[in-house]
Amino acid sequence: MADLSTDFVGLKLRNPVIVSSSGLTDSVEKIRKLEEAGAGAVVLKSLFEEQILHEAGNLSRQSDYPEADDYIRHYTRTNSLDAYLDLIEGAVSATGIPVMASINCISDSEWYDFALKIEEAGAYALELNVYFLPADRNAGSLNYEKLYLDIAEKVRSRVSIPVIMKLGQNFTNLINLVDLLYHRGINGVVLFNRFYSPDININELKMTTSEVFSSPTDLRYSLRWVAIVSSIIEQVDIAASTGVHDGKALIKQLLAGAKAVQVCSAIYKQGPSHITAMLGELSKWMKEKNFGSIGDFRGKMNYANIPDPQVYERSQFMKYFSSRH
Ligand SMILES: Cc1cc2nc3c(=O)[nH]c(=O)nc-3n(C[C@H](O)[C@H](O)[C@H](O)COP(=O)(O)O)c2cc1C
Repeated sequence: MADLSTDFVGLKLRNPVIVSSSGLTDSVEKIRKLEEAGAGAVVLKSLFEEQILHEAGNLSRQSDYPEADDYIRHYTRTNSLDAYLDLIEGAVSATGIPVMASINCISDSEWYDFALKIEEAGAYALELNVYFLPADRNAGSLNYEKLYLDIAEKVRSRVSIPVIMKLGQNFTNLINLVDLLYHRGINGVVLFNRFYSPDININELKMTTSEVFSSPTDLRYSLRWVAIVSSIIEQVDIAASTGVHDGKALIKQLLAGAKAVQVCSAIYKQGPSHITAMLGELSKWMKEKNFGSIGDFRGKMNYANIPDPQVYERSQFMKYFSSRH
């Protein structure tokens, strides 16, 4: 029996399949089912920075009215921050797999103090789902990247659990950004997040939502960058994300150098038992190839280890087509 265990940001995972932050991980009951199906770890549904700031604002106002104690007690029992901390505690005590919390951040304002409460509630790690839509014509790309770095620094100064940053794919120099994050104490990155995108209904002239779920071909967005970043910045662990829909995609990302993968759309579509199928495919492949552990092949096909690393640099189709047609 192949050993599927892996280390991710210092956590020992029984296998490399992490269920991504989403509605799949918003209750203890659902997380138990994911554990039963074989999940190596889960990332809880994101708590939004706006929720933290909103409730923190409410609480500081309440201190002016001590007579409202009953209300405050009721309020803090039912508010979403307490509910989130309860979810962490409940999931940690009901399961044996690492439970990571997630905060969706859109600024570097005061929300990060809440990170300590997340650590105290027992979260194994904290994932920061960061995204700033760069829509200011006067702000250069460095202004935006500095926000990622400031967040990393501030959160790192508050907690001692591993901190992971979940990134989008649109950076001018991802390698440099990951290196700068490493120097601010970030332990791992998720490459990449997949965001909500607007669409237009041309018949009704209305805004709609584009496809919510990824497709297997979306794997191509992250494979190259997992292979390149993992070989250049070995100190930061990578969880590959977007388009991991089956065991083959899982194997590809491990070969490219990921320490783990995150799965979301495939589990929404096929249910938790799909994790069991993916792990079965991985075990079977490892047996066929004579690999006893993930370490035997992880990164074997990354940017540093293949004889022709230029294939990861190639981005224009011209050469490909001219050599074949
Ligand atoms: C319905 C839905 C809800 C999601 N909610 C969150 C969330 O709360 N926080 C987060 O970081 N990502 C969220 N995501 C993004 C996923 O975690 C994941 O990064 C993305 O779907 C790409 O992975 P996939 O190709 O396996 O679906 C959500 C995705 C979906 C489809």
